[in-house]
Amino acid sequence: MSFLIKDARNFVGQEVEIHGWVFNKRSSGSVIFLQLRDGSGFIQAVVSKNEVSPEVFATAQETRDESTVVVAGHLKEEPRSPFSFEIQTRNLKIVSLAQTDFPISAKEHGVDFLLGQRHLWLRFPRQWAILRIRDQIASSINQFLHREGYTRLDSPILTPSACEGTTTLFPVPYLPAWPDVTDQSVPSWLNLDQAKPYAYLSQSGQLYLEAGIASLGKVYDFGPTFRAEKSKTKRHLTEFWMMDAEAAFLEYEGLLDFEEKMVLAVIQDVLAACPAEFKTLERDPAPLAQIKSPFPKLTYEETLKKLRELGSDIKDGEDLGNDDETRLMNYFHQPLFVMKFPATFKAFYFKRDEQRPELTLSSDLLAPEGYGEIIGGGQREDDYDTLLKRMKEAGLNTQDYEWYLDLRRYGASPHSGFGLGLERMVAWICKLEHIREAIPFPRTIYRFTP
Ligand code: 4AD
Ligand code: MG
Repeated sequence: MSFLIKDARNFVGQEVEIHGWVFNKRSSGSVIFLQLRDGSGFIQAVVSKNEVSPEVFATAQETRDESTVVVAGHLKEEPRSPFSFEIQTRNLKIVSLAQTDFPISAKEHGVDFLLGQRHLWLRFPRQWAILRIRDQIASSINQFLHREGYTRLDSPILTPSACEGTTTLFPVPYLPAWPDVTDQSVPSWLNLDQAKPYAYLSQSGQLYLEAGIASLGKVYDFGPTFRAEKSKTKRHLTEFWMMDAEAAFLEYEGLLDFEEKMVLAVIQDVLAACPAEFKTLERDPAPLAQIKSPFPKLTYEETLKKLRELGSDIKDGEDLGNDDETRLMNYFHQPLFVMKFPATFKAFYFKRDEQRPELTLSSDLLAPEGYGEIIGGGQREDDYDTLLKRMKEAGLNTQDYEWYLDLRRYGASPHSGFGLGLERMVAWICKLEHIREAIPFPRTIYRFTP
C-alpha cells in the first residue's frame, strides 16, 4: 500500500515510504532535516548520522532543495513540528538531483518575478493550498448541481458573436498567420482578404445554455472564458473559469434562492474538506463559517443610498465600480444580493421588471471581506418581439443571433440563470490579495507566460 502524507495520522508507529520532493534542507552536523512534500501534504524527515548507514547519510548530504527523492523511515507524531508528524529516516534515494540554481529562494521575491516563475512557484505550500481549495470549490459546485438535477452541457469556446458586449471580445484568426489570399485552397467564406476573424473567444456560455434548457431542462457549463479587459485590477483576468447555470421555468426570486443555496453548500464543503489548506494560508475560516441564510438583499437604488451613507460619491444610473464594491462589502459580513440594475448598463438579454421597465431582473452576488462580485445573473427575456426590440436597441446585428432568436420562436419558457467566476470565488475563500494567485497560470493584459 502506498503512503500519502495526508494520511499520516493512520500510520503512526509504522514504517512508511514517501515518494516526493525536498523543499527545504537544513543540517546541524550529525542531523539533517529534510522537509518533504508528496502532493498530498508536507512533513519533515530527520536523518541522524548514527541511525543510518554512512551511504544513506552521504546521500542526505548530497541532496538539495527541489530534488526528487524516495524516503523510507519510521513515522511518529511530533507535536512540536508544524507538520505534526515526523519521519525518522532509515533509507533515502535520490531520483533526480536538482540543479543548484533553483530560481526561487527563501528571500522575498517581487510578485512579477514569481509570476514569471509560475511553473516553479506552484510547488510552494501557499500555492498548493490555493490549488487544492480551487479544486474543492469546482468539485463541490459540480456535485451540488448534479444533486439539484442539472446536466452539464459544454458550451463552445469559439463563438460567432458577443454575449457580454463587443468591447472585450477576443478575435481569433483561422490560421496562425494570414495566408496568401490568392491561394485557391482557402475557402472564400473565411474572408481572409478582409482580415475578418474566424470566431471570437467565448465571454460566457450563457446563450448556449439557453439552447440547452429546451432539451435538458436544467443545464450548466464550467470552463474557460475570455475577456480582453483593458484595465489592470485585482479582480480581472483575461482568461478565467466560469460556471454558468440556466434553468427553464425558474424565475427571478427562485434564482436568487438557488444561488444562495449553492454558495452555502460550497462553503460548507470547503470548510469541512480543507482545514490544512486554510492553516497553510493562515486564512481564518471564522468569517466563512458564520455565513448563513438568508443573504441580505438590496435593490440597486437601495445600494446607491447605502453607498452614499458609506461615503461614496456614486451618481444615479452609474454602475458599481471596484471601489464601491469594496466599500460595500467591508460593511456587510454576509454575501449581498444587489438586485434590479438599470437597463442602461446591462446586457440585452435581461427581462425587465414589469412595474419598472427601466430596470432589469438582474442581480449580482457580492462577497464579504471586501471582495465584491462573484456571481452575475438574472431572468432572461423570453418573448420574441421584446427580445428582438432589445437587440436592435443594443445595436446588435440580429442576423448573428438568429439561432438565439429561434429559442423564442420554438419552445420559449420563463427562465433564469447565472454565472459564477471561479477565480473570484477562490480569491474570496482563500482571502487572496489579488486574483492572479487564484488560477494556475494567470493571464492578464500584461502577462500570458509561462
Ligand atoms: O457578470 P458576468 O459578466 O455575467 C455573465 O457573463 C453572464 N452571461 C453569466 C450568466 O448569467 N450565465 O460574469 C459572471 C462572473 C462575474 O460575476 C465574475 O465573477 C466573473 O464572471 N468575471 C470575471 N472573473 C475574472 N476576470 C474577469 N475579467 C471577469 N469578468 C467576469
Ligand atoms: Mg457582472
